[in-house]
Amino acid sequence: MLNAKLGCSHLFWNYPETNGAGELWKSCAEDFSSNYADLCHLIGTGLSRNVIPGLSLNDSKFVQINSASADTLIHIVDNSVDAVVTDPPYYGTILYAEIADFFYIWQKRILGDIFPDLFTSDLTDKDREAVANPSRFRNMGISPEVLANQDYEAKMALAFAEYYRVLRDDGVMTVQFNHKDSGAWDVLAKSLIDAGFEITASWAVSTENPQNLHQAQKNSVSSTVLLVCRKRDPNAGQAWWDDLRPDVANLVEQRAPEFEANDITGIDLYLSAFGPALNVFSRNYPILDSAGNEVRPEEAFAEARRAIANYRFYKLAQTDTQGFDPLTTWYMLAWDAFRASEFPFDDARQLALAVGGFNVADLAKTYKLLDSTSGTCKFLTPQQRHKKRAFSLVEEEFSARYLIDALHAIITLYLEEQAIEPVRRFLKSTGLLSNDLFMRSWEVALKVIPRIGDERKRIPEEKALADLWLAMDEIKAKVIYVQPELELGSGQQSLNFAQFEE
Ligand SMILES: C[S@@+](CC[C@H](N)C(=O)[O-])C[C@H]1O[C@@H](n2cnc3c(N)ncnc32)[C@H](O)[C@@H]1O
Repeated sequence: MLNAKLGCSHLFWNYPETNGAGELWKSCAEDFSSNYADLCHLIGTGLSRNVIPGLSLNDSKFVQINSASADTLIHIVDNSVDAVVTDPPYYGTILYAEIADFFYIWQKRILGDIFPDLFTSDLTDKDREAVANPSRFRNMGISPEVLANQDYEAKMALAFAEYYRVLRDDGVMTVQFNHKDSGAWDVLAKSLIDAGFEITASWAVSTENPQNLHQAQKNSVSSTVLLVCRKRDPNAGQAWWDDLRPDVANLVEQRAPEFEANDITGIDLYLSAFGPALNVFSRNYPILDSAGNEVRPEEAFAEARRAIANYRFYKLAQTDTQGFDPLTTWYMLAWDAFRASEFPFDDARQLALAVGGFNVADLAKTYKLLDSTSGTCKFLTPQQRHKKRAFSLVEEEFSARYLIDALHAIITLYLEEQAIEPVRRFLKSTGLLSNDLFMRSWEVALKVIPRIGDERKRIPEEKALADLWLAMDEIKAKVIYVQPELELGSGQQSLNFAQFEE
């Protein structure tokens, strides 16, 4: 973690995420010294002597580098720091100290004499490390994972309390966070709020290297959210969640176009919405529901997700979700957010909760939209869904209750028969062509299922729907549109109805 005090700055040593296979010490020292020089430049001070041996130096002594655990900043007095900049660990995503041992033993041999204070122990200090490390809690009678998470959360709370103590009343703190698990967000937000902070702004930025192993395999997000925090007005007092809830949705919808203009799209847009949600949520403390119970930040995140889902759906369909069945809404928003046929199940679950109206477990079990194994899930193709009897292609048995089934039915027919005619007949006999919501779903599907430039790699669903859309004239031309007049008896208006025939 990095802590900077402007004017007289302190930095903490860190275990950098660097490939150590080459000349480790040299590359780390170069990175470190250039970062140090950049920092001095940024805050307008000169380079200090005695920081790192070998640095090019001048006389100024404004920047100091100290090594300390974030939860014990005893060398910094209360209310003295202008800015805290922190990039904390995310539960057990990376066990830094365990990884660092590999390098530590060599660094101790090489640098132990130069920095004896930094190399007092045989290995790195796992006990002070703020990560969720279950191996420290084996054989204690309670799940090691539960204990490790509790330990991590307690350490984060202590670190935030220390930051609060050292920060000036008008100081600012930025917290970098990119964990996709909404539970981790809830805990982070709660401990920030408990420590006395409010979240005043949030910025989503692309930072992490997507090639990083931990990023590629776990919780990969392309952007990180920087939360800007300040000390909360101690007189702010409590508020009612029912009063704040609409403000969360309004602010999220207001900020969404701004995020999009900065290329924050897909699932990152949902993640970025947490910032504005926290902004509203953290101004007062505590937030109470109508029964007087304290509301957790996760309620604000759920509201934020709903607001983004509504915002995106409106943008895609030019109308709200009214009339669209929830399954179709979820399917469109899932393609829109994930842009791939495979995505983490938890994200699918969160999106389903945002859309509402069906049980998440039924996505795989009943509706057969997904195949899910060990945390990841995959859209089933229309043909796979048909084989699993998610819908029928027999016109008399077909139900358009879920518009996604209707879309998948025509895709299946087209791909299996390799012809437009069976699709035309199906659309005719089921009346789907005159179903405005169906036609609109078709248009939305064409917008959200990614169109891949290389013809051979196109997603079959997208290709089938696009081919059929282009053949719409042909499909409609063979349909004779008949509008017989029905006399409904004297005094009653005559009604027109549409019917498709050969
Ligand atoms: C997400 S990483 C920060 C990476 C850093 N921004 C960089 O670019 O290298 C979190 C860091 O917090 C460090 N850390 C873990 N426990 C700590 C503690 N108690 N005090 C200070 N730093 C700690 C880890 O070693 C790790 O380097």
